[in-house]
Amino acid sequence: MCGIVGYLGNKNTKEILLDGLKELEYRGYDSAGIAVLQNNNFSNYKAVGKLINLEEKTKDFVTNSFAVGIGHTRWATHGKPTELNAHPHLGESSYVVHNGIIENYVSLKNELQSDGVKFLSQTDTEVIVHQFEKNLITAKDTFEAFSQTISQLQGAYAILLVTKGEDETIFFAKHGSPMLMGVNEENEKFFASSDTPLIGHAKEVNYFEDGDYGYVSKNEIIIYSKDKELQKPNFQTISTNRLSSQKNGYRFFMEKEIYEQSDVVSDTLMGRLGENEINFNEIDSTLFDDINEIKLCACGTSYHSALSASYMFERYAKIRCCVEIASEFRYRDPLMCKDTLFVVISQSGETADTLETLKMAKKEGLKTLVICNVDNSSMVRLADACILTRAGIEKGVASTKAFATQVSVFWMLSLYVAKLRDAMDANQLAKQIHLLREIPSSLKISDAIHEKIKRLSKRYLHGHGFFFIGRDIFFPLALEGALKLKEISYLHAEGYPSGEMKHGPIALADPELFTIALLPQHLLYEKSKSNVEELSARDSTICAISAIEFDKADDFIQINECQDYMLEFFEMMIVVQLLSLEISVRLGNDVDMPRNLAKSVTVE
Ligand code: AGP
Repeated sequence: MCGIVGYLGNKNTKEILLDGLKELEYRGYDSAGIAVLQNNNFSNYKAVGKLINLEEKTKDFVTNSFAVGIGHTRWATHGKPTELNAHPHLGESSYVVHNGIIENYVSLKNELQSDGVKFLSQTDTEVIVHQFEKNLITAKDTFEAFSQTISQLQGAYAILLVTKGEDETIFFAKHGSPMLMGVNEENEKFFASSDTPLIGHAKEVNYFEDGDYGYVSKNEIIIYSKDKELQKPNFQTISTNRLSSQKNGYRFFMEKEIYEQSDVVSDTLMGRLGENEINFNEIDSTLFDDINEIKLCACGTSYHSALSASYMFERYAKIRCCVEIASEFRYRDPLMCKDTLFVVISQSGETADTLETLKMAKKEGLKTLVICNVDNSSMVRLADACILTRAGIEKGVASTKAFATQVSVFWMLSLYVAKLRDAMDANQLAKQIHLLREIPSSLKISDAIHEKIKRLSKRYLHGHGFFFIGRDIFFPLALEGALKLKEISYLHAEGYPSGEMKHGPIALADPELFTIALLPQHLLYEKSKSNVEELSARDSTICAISAIEFDKADDFIQINECQDYMLEFFEMMIVVQLLSLEISVRLGNDVDMPRNLAKSVTVE
């Protein structure tokens, strides 16, 4: 996720902006920049990579009188991590920084380009500053031009804009991406994506609501609501603990990332869901020309999302799909056919085994695609095409939001391919797109279910192991739930197809064997239920997860009634993630940094 800072005041603007960006580094970024307006003169600096590169570029730049300034750390969603794509973005006489995704940037950009506007970057953000300067020509004043611009944007944004002629003013707008403003007795004004950069500077803060827009100057704070009504700032005291503020008050980054899934999947979907088609602007549909099979290759959690994808590609797109574990694929002399699209999946884009399989496919002349969360990573640079998952930085070693965004991308991609292959009629496609729009609400977590999981986790701290069982696409989810538990509780767990338990594992059934049973209402419910009853009859301890009451379970976690099994998938995913987290907490383990594990396995 990008980070934004802004400052208006008499102190060292450059240092305040750079220090603020440093406090936002935990959000993850690949480039950064600042723009400072002093006495109607702009100074602008950008650098790829870490902030130290930007500090180096600005070391001779001094700001010790009144100024307005904006700064940004960029996590690439549109366009490679380059200096040109780094924010702030320049028009003729204005700079803008933006966190979020402008859904309608293509149409705005096309219109501006037809007016003769020259774009320097590949980003969606740059349309904001050019649209603003277009509006400046006809608006009665600068704020009207800014207001018009905001009303023309669709998508998610936290925006700061500064412009010549208004060198004592910062314009702002917030919708869907976080931003707050801070003030103190020295009449300084601060902006940031989260409160960490304001700690130690601001005395009070105002958290903007969706739809808020306005401007601040030396003596004014003007805020309009989404209903265009002038409103007073709602100031409150600011937290003083930087680390907890980076975790937004959650106990662990993993917990924060589980709760973030609803928002980040909204970003994943943004700009890609048409009324009756899926749009992937970042790939060309010819990628699928002459392709009769899709081969997915990954490790760990990414392997589980790939397995989930295989059910969707064959069910929705009617295309053969097989899934490989990268470390196995590398050494088994696999047959590679040119009519196979080779897809690697990786949160980091750096996993050694997966990267090597990508090189193997390229060497054999196969077309390649990477589903990744980190732009400019090794796999992104190597593959023919890339779809970014937009999960933002994932700090917890146990992957959560990366998995949710990967499955969401694959659901969309299976429908994209279904349309290319005429494998699904328009009504079916429209229904699926409607369901996709429901994912974020399926990922909302009620206090009640989290409290229930926290309470019952005390019963699962020992035993001789766990089975997570599921059928069909819930089998990969069972594998993922088992992996989560292993990683952070250090208890043994395995994911298993429900129908396979009677072929051996049921010999383990006894009260000390804990079975976490996934019982989706809309997919093979009766079959799954009978598998669980077989275990219950042999006195296994059962924890059932379902929308339907299940009286043969020792524990029962009820999810919401859903329209479709895919929404049940996401609801049950939250449950197994939280269950592993709460068991780990009770065992006193390091949830974010479990023993023996690394966030990215860049060695064999
Ligand atoms: C998942 O919780 C683990 N951290 C691990 O299995 C991880 O998914 C695997 O190492 C693959 O990483 P990648 O997605 O970055 O390639």
